[in-house]
Parts: sequence; structure tokens; C-alpha cells
Amino acid sequence: MDVSGTTLVGEIAAKVPASLEVFERYGVDFCCNGGRPLVEALSGTGISVGDILVEIERAAQAEVTEDHRYLDWTRESPATLADHIVETHHDFLDRHLPRVGHDLSKVVSVHGQHHPELFELGRVYGQLQSELQEHLHKEEQQVFPLLRNLGPDESPSPELLGLLEQLETEHDGAGSALHAIRGITSNFQTPADACFTYSTLFRELRELEADVHRHVHLENNILIPGLRARVRESAAI
Ligand SMILES: [Fe+2]
Ligand SMILES: [Fe+2]
Repeated sequence: MDVSGTTLVGEIAAKVPASLEVFERYGVDFCCNGGRPLVEALSGTGISVGDILVEIERAAQAEVTEDHRYLDWTRESPATLADHIVETHHDFLDRHLPRVGHDLSKVVSVHGQHHPELFELGRVYGQLQSELQEHLHKEEQQVFPLLRNLGPDESPSPELLGLLEQLETEHDGAGSALHAIRGITSNFQTPADACFTYSTLFRELRELEADVHRHVHLENNILIPGLRARVRESAAI
């Protein structure tokens, strides 16, 4: 694809899956803030448009020659993508969220006195956990069944379009909570007196962030725009 400084980050992430690892490396938000042009998203990261494009190109070449870790989801149907999201990312959260909550409670009770920021971490995480669990339920019970019933080129109903907007708002909320967690934990750096569970917790929080970013990317940059494109295409006929 033709990529320049004015291309939207979410578009690059959707079209060049190998770009995700480059964006992650430089802290470029490709999911909740994917609607920004590349040049804007790079401000403050210390890397130029030219340099990051070289790295993305290199990552894309390595992917072709070394392995095929990333599928091009833009070519798959919304139903296939929804199935993949549930099997991969919802399943991850179903297992991960309670485990992290359990470890966090232990760490707060043992270390909270010397690390009072852990109480704020517990508050933010608790809210994120319950909001994500509600969000997954909404997708699995309401949104994904509606899109699985769509014909190959059928436009989504106004009800489905309304639900998609709600999902995007909820993704923004999860993105902000993860950003806050990164701040509270100083980029997941454990203090010198951290025990094994403390270190495990910070590793789990980092894994949670990485998985949610890829999950939201698939929904915000591929699934939802693909469904909206059907409305535009049917209006143009
Ligand atoms: Fe999801
Ligand atoms: Fe979602």
C-alpha cells in the first residue's frame, strides 16, 4: 500500500499487519487512536515518518520471508473475524482478567502500605475488569450474532450500526484505563522490594495491554470499518 505521513495509523495497521509490532515498539497507539495521521501519531515518540516507514517495510518483508504470523483479516468475512476474535482475544480475557484481579488483591494487601499507588491501580483495574466483562458479553450476545446473520454484501441494520458506535466508545474507555495503568506502574517497572507475585502481576498487566491493543485493533480498524463500508457501497449503487 501507498503509505505516507498523512495515512491514518489504523489504516496502516489494517493493511500492513507487520506494522503492529513496530507501532508497539515506539508506543504508537494504533487501536483507540488509529484515526490520526501517522505524522501526528509520531509526535513525541522520537522517530520520524521516514524512519518508521523503513522499519515497517523491513518488518513486512521479514514476515513474508520468515513466517506468516499475521493473516490479512481485511480479506475475511465479518463472521469469520468475529469467530477469531472470540476464540483468541475473548478467551484470553476470560482467563486472564480474573487471574490478574486475584494477583492484584494479593499484592495490594501485602505491599499497599509501602506502595500506596497500588490502591489506585486496584481501583482502575477493578473498573476495567467489570467494564471489559460487560463489553465482551455485549459483543458475544448482541453484536456478533447480528453480524453473523448478514448476507455476503448485506448492509448492517441501524440497530447494529448503533451498537458498533457503542463498542467504539467502550474501546476508548478501556484504552484510557490501560493508559492510566501504564502511568501508575511507571511502564510496568517493579520496585526493588517487589516479590515474585508483584513481578508476575506487572508482567500479566503488560500482556493484558498488548492483547487488548491487538483485539481493539481488529474491531476498530477492520471489523467496524468493513461493515460501515457496506452502507456506503449500497448507498452508491
Ligand atoms: Fe471483542
Ligand atoms: Fe470490543
